[in-house]
Amino acid sequence: MAGTRLDRWHGAYSRRASGMTASAIRALFAVANRPEVVSLAGGMPTLEALPLDDVAEVAARCVRDDYAASLQYGSAQGDPVAREQVTDVMRDVAVSCHPDEVVMTTGSQHALDLLTRIMVDPGDVVLVESPSYVGALGVFRSYEAAIVHLPTDHAGLDPEAVVTAVRRERDRGRRVKALYVVPHHQNPSGGTTSIERRQRLVELCREERVLLVEDDPYAHLGFSSDPLPAMQSMDPETVVYLGSFSKTFAPGLRVGWVLAPTAIRAKLVLAAEASVLCPSAFGQRFVASYLASTDWRSRVKVLREVYRERRDAMLEALDRYLPAASYTRPAGGFFTWVDLPDGIDGAAMLPRAVQGRVAYVPGTAFFDDDQGGSHVRLSFCFPPPERITEGVRRLAAVVDSELELREAFGDALTDSPLATHEHGNVDRPPTDTT
Ligand SMILES: Cc1ncc(COP(=O)(O)O)c(C=O)c1O
Repeated sequence: MAGTRLDRWHGAYSRRASGMTASAIRALFAVANRPEVVSLAGGMPTLEALPLDDVAEVAARCVRDDYAASLQYGSAQGDPVAREQVTDVMRDVAVSCHPDEVVMTTGSQHALDLLTRIMVDPGDVVLVESPSYVGALGVFRSYEAAIVHLPTDHAGLDPEAVVTAVRRERDRGRRVKALYVVPHHQNPSGGTTSIERRQRLVELCREERVLLVEDDPYAHLGFSSDPLPAMQSMDPETVVYLGSFSKTFAPGLRVGWVLAPTAIRAKLVLAAEASVLCPSAFGQRFVASYLASTDWRSRVKVLREVYRERRDAMLEALDRYLPAASYTRPAGGFFTWVDLPDGIDGAAMLPRAVQGRVAYVPGTAFFDDDQGGSHVRLSFCFPPPERITEGVRRLAAVVDSELELREAFGDALTDSPLATHEHGNVDRPPTDTT
């Protein structure tokens, strides 16, 4: 309703709010959340593998023995004990840092928001992968950035395309502020940026004076590999690193962190103070205490096993039921990126898929331009393996009937209202923004 005459406040919104529009697809997700629908849409981590008794004990201790810190306001930069724990986690991605260099945030989504707030004016360019994380695109749009997608393959962004884009945008008189990359098991493609590409991207960003934003929530979730060195370890003055405990512990706690060059860090803290005063003290003390008192790395190994089994179930089902599509074979994380058989529009097909009791996120959600129509993102993180198999089987049946329809009616079908790829009006469902 926002932006229509039915809204009494139409005309009162800020300019930046005009980019915040819901799509027809959003409404479908209310239906997709029904139990009879297999949702391969959301990016919710599984919580089954958590040692719940230990977690409950940690929570109890936070209240009983630590209330003076955990239930009180804290500093805008974050709790010192949590920052100390983060330095230990960062060693896994080859970064050695001091707690004073860490800023805690309300999940990495908040870090993205704060960073964009302090770096980007309307019309400034942010370079992103193709496809890119829907939640980051939402933030960039809300600050009226000009989002430019760059060619990306199985090894990550094409570095030479970065140089070409930076020069082209500067020639057009635009300021290129940042390059945004999800380097491990990307959301939505599942791809990982190779070590050579990481080095080259860091080099280019340094030379071109473009801030490299490394958003790395899936680093620990490689199925058979340890994380690669973070780009931040290659040049801490050029790269801002965003981390999160959402995928390795629990997203409900909303605890993430940032490592940034000193001057940027100071501004981030000021922006955080203006935004939330301080991140949740309870969440931070909870996470810090969990990390300090449990063998959390072993728990992450268990998680990796759970997700590997689900990834296998998804790929086996795709191989079996949807051989006409092509898809990525992620080595970690939550998602596979599916290229549908020729002529099928993922957004237009979604209502029929939901009617067929399966949901996914259309590829258009991961672009700010008109790409992604023939793709969908399938997530294997939440449903158990047998539900994943059933979901893919249902999806294949919908694709088959779509192909039959296409054969019968041809292009007339592309007139569906959901087949549009309008900018800023693609899928941003309320519970599936991850
Ligand atoms: C690439 C990426 N960045 C950031 C986030 C947000 O994570 P957080 O829960 O830490 O805000 C997500 C969540 O799915 C994500 O996939």
